[in-house]
Amino acid sequence: SKLQVAIDGPASAGKSTVAKLVATRFSYIYCDTGAMYRSTTLKAIRNNLPLDDEQVILKMLNDTEITFEPGEKQQKVFLDGNEVTNDIRQEDVTNNVSTVASLGAVRAELVERQQEIAAKGGIVMDGRDIGTTVLPNAEVKIFLIASVEERADRRFKDNEEKGIHVPLEQLKKEIEERDYKDSHREVSPLTKAADAIEIDTTSMSIDQVVDAISDEINK
Ligand code: C5P
Repeated sequence: SKLQVAIDGPASAGKSTVAKLVATRFSYIYCDTGAMYRSTTLKAIRNNLPLDDEQVILKMLNDTEITFEPGEKQQKVFLDGNEVTNDIRQEDVTNNVSTVASLGAVRAELVERQQEIAAKGGIVMDGRDIGTTVLPNAEVKIFLIASVEERADRRFKDNEEKGIHVPLEQLKKEIEERDYKDSHREVSPLTKAADAIEIDTTSMSIDQVVDAISDEINK
């Protein structure tokens, strides 16, 4: 049977890496909702729009297409038809996305788009509010956590692989700030759903996390 799998958790806990692998294993659709908030933020920055102006960003979003295509290592993201897979991971997007994500009307619009994607079949969706708001009836809800040191370390290694050099201490500070903003905003803040299973990935391998989630799906 085709299930809904919701994967939430703080920044850089490894959600998208494992979510994509789980989706592949079960031949489910994968949807990275963070990429939608990031694409919205990227377009707003490129157009010099005020990132905290709800009506301005909503108006822009209503005229914005965000689509996904399967990729090898990671899913490809397209903004109005142009690939932005790497652009949405840039530091200026990462450090401003929480501001855009705190706008209620913007969330309402993106949640609706996410629910439309989920209606198409078995789905693995990762984000911050999937188990609580986007897919409250999901059969499997996972809340992934890891120590902030481990998460900063993972991002540091990812960055170095791409030739991006940001000091470890700065990454740690950015992660903590983003988590704070994401869990203190008014509209659907980052919280663990009451029926979610928490997995601490601090000392787990990617395969171990994928296996643990697969076990929950097979139950
Ligand atoms: O998952 P990722 O780190 O790419 O998400 C980027 C940002 O998008 C988060 O820090 C958060 O502000 C926002 N987000 C959200 N709700 C989601 C997914 C992401 O608010 N479901």
